[in-house]
Amino acid sequence: MAAPDVVLRPMRPEDLPEVVTLRNEGFLELDRRTLPRSAPEPQPAGDDDNRNWTERTGFVLHHDPRGCWVAEADDQLLGFATSSVRELTWMLHTFVVLPRAQGRGIGRALLEAAMAHGEGCLRGMLSASLDPAAARRYRLAGFSLHPQMMLTGSLDRALLPVVEKVREGTPADIDLMNSIDRQLRGSAHGVDHEWLTTHARLVVSDTTTGSGYAYLHPAGGAQLLAATNRRTAARLLWECLAATPHGRSLTQAHVTAANEWAIDVGVAARLALAPAGYLALRGMKPPAPYLHHGVFG
Ligand SMILES: CC(C)(COP(=O)(O)OP(=O)(O)OC[C@H]1O[C@@H](n2cnc3c(N)ncnc32)[C@H](O)[C@@H]1OP(=O)(O)O)[C@@H](O)C(=O)NCCC(=O)NCCS
Repeated sequence: MAAPDVVLRPMRPEDLPEVVTLRNEGFLELDRRTLPRSAPEPQPAGDDDNRNWTERTGFVLHHDPRGCWVAEADDQLLGFATSSVRELTWMLHTFVVLPRAQGRGIGRALLEAAMAHGEGCLRGMLSASLDPAAARRYRLAGFSLHPQMMLTGSLDRALLPVVEKVREGTPADIDLMNSIDRQLRGSAHGVDHEWLTTHARLVVSDTTTGSGYAYLHPAGGAQLLAATNRRTAARLLWECLAATPHGRSLTQAHVTAANEWAIDVGVAARLALAPAGYLALRGMKPPAPYLHHGVFG
C-alpha cells in the first residue's frame, strides 16, 4: 500500500457517525470540483439525507460486513468503501477518500479490499461519479465504463399522458421484482427490496404483455426502474415523473445509451439531457429497460 502509516480494517457500526462526515466532505469537494458552472452552488447534505444515508449504510454493513472497509491513521478515518454481494453480482455502494489524503493509493487499497468480498462473483456493477481518479481506478480494476446521462428540469404537467395499468406496489411484489431483476441484470436485489419497500413509494405494472416496477424518488423521477419491455418501462417512468412534487425541478439520473426509451420520455417531457458519470460494469452489458439505483445497482 502506498501510504505506510495507513491501516485498513473492516468497518464497524460505531464508525458510522465519522463515516457520514467523511462522505459529506469528500462529495462536497467533488461537487465543487466537477459540477458545471451553470449548476447551483453545491450545498452540504441536509439532516434527512444524512440520516437516510447512515441508516442505509448500517443496513449494508449488517448484511455485508466483509464488503465494508475503512482506512485509518492516528485514530482518524481517511476513507472507506462499502459494497455488497447479491446472488452472483458484486456492487460498490460508496467509495470516498478525504480530499487531503487522495492520490496516495488509499483508494486503490480500499477498492481491492471491498472487491475481495465479491471473489467468485460473475458480475460487478457500480454507478461512478465524475471524478477522473475514480474512473481510472474502476477501469484499472477491469470495469467497462458506460457513460450515463441525466434528465433535468421543471415538469410541464400539460405534457403528462394518462397512465394506465400501473398500481401501488407492496412487499408482496418482491418475488415478481426479483424475477424481473434476474431477467434484466442476472441477479435479484433480494434484501435490498426489503429496504426499498420500507423507504420509498413503489409502483408496479403487471399485465399479460409485460411486467415492471419502479421505486419513486421523493424529489421526482425514479430511483430504480426495471421492466420486461420498453412500453411498460415508459409507462412507469411517466408515473414517476407525474409524482414530482408541484413546483419542484426534478433530476432523473442513471440513463444509459441502452435505454433510449427513457431519453424519449424525457424529450417528450421537455427535460434537458446532460452527461453524468458512468455505469461501470464487469461481466454484463448495460441492463435495459432499466434505470439503475445509484447504490443498490
Ligand atoms: C475516487 C477516490 C475514492 C480515489 O481515492 P484515492 O485515494 O485518491 O485513490 P488512489 O490514490 O488509489 O488512485 C487515484 C488515481 O487517480 C489518479 N488521478 C488523480 N487525479 C486524477 C485526475 N484528475 N485525472 C486522472 N487521474 C487522476 C492518481 O494518479 C491515481 O492513479 P495512480 O495510482 O495510477 O497514479 C477519491 O479520489 C475520492 O474520494 N473522490 C471523490 C469521491 C468520489 O468520486 N468517489 C467515487 C464515487 S463513484
